Amino acid sequence: MPNSPATKRIAILISGRGSNMVALADAVRRGTIPNAEVATVISDKRDAAGLESANERGIETLVIERGARTRQEHDREIVSALAARQIDLVCLAGYMRVLSSELINDYRGRILNIHPSLLPAFPGLDAQRQALEHGAKVSGCTVHFVDETLDGGPIVTQREVPIHEDDTVENLSARILIEEHRLYAAAVAKTLKKLSIK
Ligand code: GRF
Repeated sequence: MPNSPATKRIAILISGRGSNMVALADAVRRGTIPNAEVATVISDKRDAAGLESANERGIETLVIERGARTRQEHDREIVSALAARQIDLVCLAGYMRVLSSELINDYRGRILNIHPSLLPAFPGLDAQRQALEHGAKVSGCTVHFVDETLDGGPIVTQREVPIHEDDTVENLSARILIEEHRLYAAAVAKTLKKLSIK
């Protein structure tokens, strides 16, 4: 009998609502993301609503605020929390900070982010508003590896979402968010599978 593959340990970094974090945690629980465990949810904001959702699911939560520290100092504390928990994959889910090069280097190829546009179109903040103001007829979401560029790392997978004539930022964001939740779970499953055969 072949050994069952070791359980991969995921850390999810959030700053707010945490709906993508919940989607990942629920996909792990259902087995849509197999052989995995959400080992910790880390927030840089004490009042992030997602912390409660993680607690309700029995997932460890950590608040690691930047405070008056430099980005490097802040990320050093995050790196040591990740290392102490032997994290295999870091998922950014509405984490509103640029990562230090140290964190990126330590986990290169093992940090994913979800972005609400079809990258490379509309990187940065307010991607849904950017798409509407541009008159785009289609937008979507992208899961990509994090590197030193802003939303510019290698793309894992994307999904298109149509834009309607009368769309508002709220409508479009809600339509994209539904797809984000499915796409992120699929991308994490695919990435973990690749990591486990490396
Ligand atoms: C999502 O639209 C995600 O793509 C973007 O920030 C939003 C976070 O939402 N990076 P949530 O906190 O996962 O609900």
